[in-house]
Amino acid sequence: TQSNMVKVAVVGGEGIGPEVTAQSRRVLDWFAAKRNVPMTLREAQYGLIPYLATGKVLPEDTAEAMDEADAILWGATGGPETTEVPAAARKAGSLLGLRSKYDLYANLRPIVASPALSASAPLKAEVLDGVDFVIIRELTSGIYFGEPRGIETLPDGQRRGFNTEQYTTNQIRRVARSAFELARTRRNKVCSVDKANVLETSVVWREEVIKLHKEEFSDVELTHLYVDNAAMQIVREPRQFDVMVTGNIFGDILSDCAAMASGSLGMLPSASLGPVDRFGRRKALYEPVHGSAPDIAGKGIANPLGSILSVAMLLRLTLNRPEDADLLEKAVQTALASGARTADIAEAGAKKLSTVQMGDAVLGALDKIS
Ligand code: NAI
Ligand code: MG
Repeated sequence: TQSNMVKVAVVGGEGIGPEVTAQSRRVLDWFAAKRNVPMTLREAQYGLIPYLATGKVLPEDTAEAMDEADAILWGATGGPETTEVPAAARKAGSLLGLRSKYDLYANLRPIVASPALSASAPLKAEVLDGVDFVIIRELTSGIYFGEPRGIETLPDGQRRGFNTEQYTTNQIRRVARSAFELARTRRNKVCSVDKANVLETSVVWREEVIKLHKEEFSDVELTHLYVDNAAMQIVREPRQFDVMVTGNIFGDILSDCAAMASGSLGMLPSASLGPVDRFGRRKALYEPVHGSAPDIAGKGIANPLGSILSVAMLLRLTLNRPEDADLLEKAVQTALASGARTADIAEAGAKKLSTVQMGDAVLGALDKIS
């Protein structure tokens, strides 16, 4: 029946978004055809093209496809810096707006070192060998959303900018829960990162994480780090981590820092998860970490692996198909090991594959190893 079909909305968006998403679409089709993964795909447009046709970057049809979807495979947003789409129209359908509409509070970024890329990685091979952890960043609260915020002029003429860091116990508990549950499917370790020696929000953060751990997750190994030490440890000994959970701003910075353990920005996938509803379903948006890359858009040279690895996360987290997720991740490593490189990850003098050719390489590896 239709009812056990998982609904996936495929939204390529703008810039290199549609180019890389076309390759993930081929991968999704491969899993539907060859592995009987039960899903229905619905493609929809986002950005400048629908804006020119309808006056909206997020037209009704796309909003509906995303509303009804269990999972959204997102490409990228961010048009060329022109006035073609007025700021107000952009804002009306923004990705930030979608994240808050679906309350996508848990942002997961896996950090996995690719052995095949270690020669060109900024960290030493012996530091990167075996690195495999996930950063969970709280995405809908913290200092990026706290009120009051603003810029004011003081009586003495100075300007003062101010923001408010804030977390409620419920906001902390739900993201910590995501971390503990994920850890149970991995190596059963959570490291919670805060700045509890200085910030009140962090004091509450740490106390709530400890409480929830004691109440429901005492089988998981829990440690705590201050954020400054966490940044150092990610560079010094990243292998020690399994799941790291932290607030919005700390997660923003630490995940970019940790990204350097895995080669190129074009390689990194992500998932943003919403609340579990009363049917046990959990809305999710999967997307590469990179943006629309206007400097290379339209050239057919973007690396599609961040988007393809986002499909692996979709298989694992929404479709509950861990063997298929493993298979896809292995196919990516197989393609890399055989020398497949897009321009962003190619060593000097190496043959550079196009976006489509990298898609071919992953599909070829899937056929070979499945
Ligand atoms: P970006 O990630 O688009 O590009 C940064 C650099 O990395 C560029 O030199 C680009 O060519 C390169 N790059 C990115 N992805 C690549 C890939 N798959 N293969 C090869 N090279 C790749 O970040 P930037 O330049 O800061 O932002 C460009 C636009 O994207 C902006 O409008 C920004 O707002 C938007 N953006 C959208 C995101 C999203 O849709 N979630 C996330 C980040 C940025
Ligand atoms: Mg960032």
